[in-house]
Amino acid sequence: MLIELPQKRVIKQTMQILNGKELARIMKGEIKSKVARMVAQGKRPPHLAAILVGKDGASETYVNHKVKICREVGFESTLLRMSDKVTEKELLDQVDRFNKADFIDGFIVQLPLPKHIEPNKVIHAIDYKKDVDGFHPMNVGRMAIGQPCYLPATPYGIMQLLECYNVPTSGKHCVVVGRSNIVGTPMSILMSRNANPGNCTVTLCHSRTQNLATYTKKADILIVALGQPGFITADMVKQGAVVIDVGITRVPDKNKVWGYSLKGDVHFPTVSPKCSFITPVPGGVGPMTVISLLLNTLKAANKEVYS
Ligand code: GUN
Repeated sequence: MLIELPQKRVIKQTMQILNGKELARIMKGEIKSKVARMVAQGKRPPHLAAILVGKDGASETYVNHKVKICREVGFESTLLRMSDKVTEKELLDQVDRFNKADFIDGFIVQLPLPKHIEPNKVIHAIDYKKDVDGFHPMNVGRMAIGQPCYLPATPYGIMQLLECYNVPTSGKHCVVVGRSNIVGTPMSILMSRNANPGNCTVTLCHSRTQNLATYTKKADILIVALGQPGFITADMVKQGAVVIDVGITRVPDKNKVWGYSLKGDVHFPTVSPKCSFITPVPGGVGPMTVISLLLNTLKAANKEVYS
């Protein structure tokens, strides 16, 4: 875009899209080649298993997608469906069977779970060496102190995007909006680590933050994981900021075959002209999430994190 300066000089500002769809396509090819090499050496392919409880539409879509991508790169995969009436004990027994199954390298229990099941109890029951979601306290703790671990999929995907696009992060002010265990909190830890990407000064904003815009306007790097379509508007963003949009909400749309379209937390048309880098929705963070899960499973199969 062109910006008119007071002195009537004109500078060209370029905004770069962080294209997660394209990076995921490239990384998928690399993973597929690694699996082919493993098999050529006589090893068995990595095996990812997933437990899906109940019939939540979004969870069903996500898990089916994970299984499909596994097959495309040559992984083995198991999808175990359990009724939404399953007891906590029955689910914990199944987790234990997967913990003990030598042929399974890593597995996930898709969240959310029905209300009568305590998710933390289930997460704690997963063998941390097979916890390719990176949700077990052992992996979260090791992440916090910078030790080898499985990183949670969405934050790991964002770190890959920042790294592969060479986005400068050192010394920058990173503002994270949303403090979930899955995205916001791990993102705040990763961006403050002494690493590249990382070395940011981090502010973590959440539902009790007062005058949110005063923080977002100061962000060199703004990471938004709220689940409120179009929440971040141009007046909340600094000129030249890096904006990472983690939101992915289904909004009814009669013009789409599925009857909905996917909307991010950032109002892309007005915010993107101000940015140095921005992730689109769809095609930004989303496609990188599954790649991260594959990377973690590959590491589990090769015992790269825990021996
Ligand atoms: N539900 C939403 N995101 C995730 C994820 O990354 N892992 C699991 N297991 N459940 C989810």
